[in-house]
Amino acid sequence: MTAPLRHEPTVVRVALGLRAYDIVIGRGVLETAGARIAALRPGAKVCIITDENVARLHLAALEAALNAAAVANGRIVVPAGEASKSYAVFEKVCEAIIAGRIERGDLVVALGGGVIGDLAGFAAAVVRRGLDYIQVPTTLLAQVDSSVGGKTAIDSVHGKNLVGAFHQPILVLADTVLLDTLPQREFRAGYAEVAKYGLLGDAGFFAWLEANWRDVFAGGIAATAAREHAIAVSCRAKAAIVARDERETGDRALLNLGHTFGHALEAACGFSDRLLHGEAVAAGMALAFEFSARRGLLSTADAARVIRHLAEVGLPTRIRDISGPPPSVEQLMTLIVQDKKVRRGKLTFILVRGIGDAFIERDVDADEVSAFLSEKLAEQ
Ligand SMILES: NC(=O)c1ccc[n+]([C@@H]2O[C@H](COP(=O)([O-])OP(=O)(O)OC[C@H]3O[C@@H](n4cnc5c(N)ncnc54)[C@H](O)[C@@H]3O)[C@@H](O)[C@H]2O)c1
Ligand SMILES: [Zn+2]
Repeated sequence: MTAPLRHEPTVVRVALGLRAYDIVIGRGVLETAGARIAALRPGAKVCIITDENVARLHLAALEAALNAAAVANGRIVVPAGEASKSYAVFEKVCEAIIAGRIERGDLVVALGGGVIGDLAGFAAAVVRRGLDYIQVPTTLLAQVDSSVGGKTAIDSVHGKNLVGAFHQPILVLADTVLLDTLPQREFRAGYAEVAKYGLLGDAGFFAWLEANWRDVFAGGIAATAAREHAIAVSCRAKAAIVARDERETGDRALLNLGHTFGHALEAACGFSDRLLHGEAVAAGMALAFEFSARRGLLSTADAARVIRHLAEVGLPTRIRDISGPPPSVEQLMTLIVQDKKVRRGKLTFILVRGIGDAFIERDVDADEVSAFLSEKLAEQ
């Protein structure tokens, strides 16, 4: 069953000069992929990279759209999951792109979540010294975050995303219909990144989410407008930050709100199913707001309001919300220090002066963080 395209999609432009591109957001935009690609790169061949889950659910629709516009296409299907961001799978993908005779001027299309976007984007960055590519994100996290901004990577034994490149896509097609098949837990984890945009820079958007999150979650035709609005506002926020600071030498770090505490929790859980990335970010944002309140930067009432909303949608906000044995302060501090590159005992954190008012604080004492985490763990 194909979803009707009921209205014009929303287009968000990522203003990066020669590397500028559109993010096209709407119900049914996947059906327009062939026509858009034929217009953007007449005569180009396409190599689709996807994972097994997404292939089962959505590959046929993309292939049909390409065939309808007479765009020649091939596919590479890799196993689902973070383990595919490995050298071994990366090698297979690169070799398959070359074997498929994808030349300069042809296109790679990443159809999937953040794993596929990062893997396919990095392959596109290096095969034949750089191929153009298109992101067709299929998770909420990918639609609002990983498909936008050009960060691509695979994982190293030393840590996640340590081998990669900045390589901007030439187009992002975010079809909200694709999210209807996403497991609820994955959708909710992606929602943490949506809330993040409100919390870091847009109090009005956060208030809108408090009032409308049920429609954003509901999906289906009735709630299309709310979901599309949430994705568009998120992409606009990320696009504006990326346009100011493409390579994260400054402001782009604001996007890491909640990620320092979050990464430590994620790592303490062994990057397992115990805690998805977005869940870790939710708990991390709750901690960042509480830590900022403890420093007197904002009222405890504002921090409580943030926690109330994240908890209401079902995201973890306390360390005790995470299943299994809680990490120790020492373990979390080791992970935070590893993650952050300490300068003279000082850590960099994204803190807040209020909802929608995040800033980069480069002068946080490790002892202060440690004392704060001890208090939080004692609350268990
Ligand atoms: N490049 C960036 O800027 C950036 C930003 C944030 C995260 N990331 C990366 O993104 C990755 C996480 O992305 P993710 O959360 O999308 O994970 P993912 O790609 O692993 O997708 C999550 C799961 O959902 C399945 N899935 C995807 N789309 C589906 C759909 N429409 N219906 C049903 N199932 C579907 C996948 O097969 C997978 O099992 C991490 O590797 C992270 O490092 C990158
Ligand atoms: Zn994140």
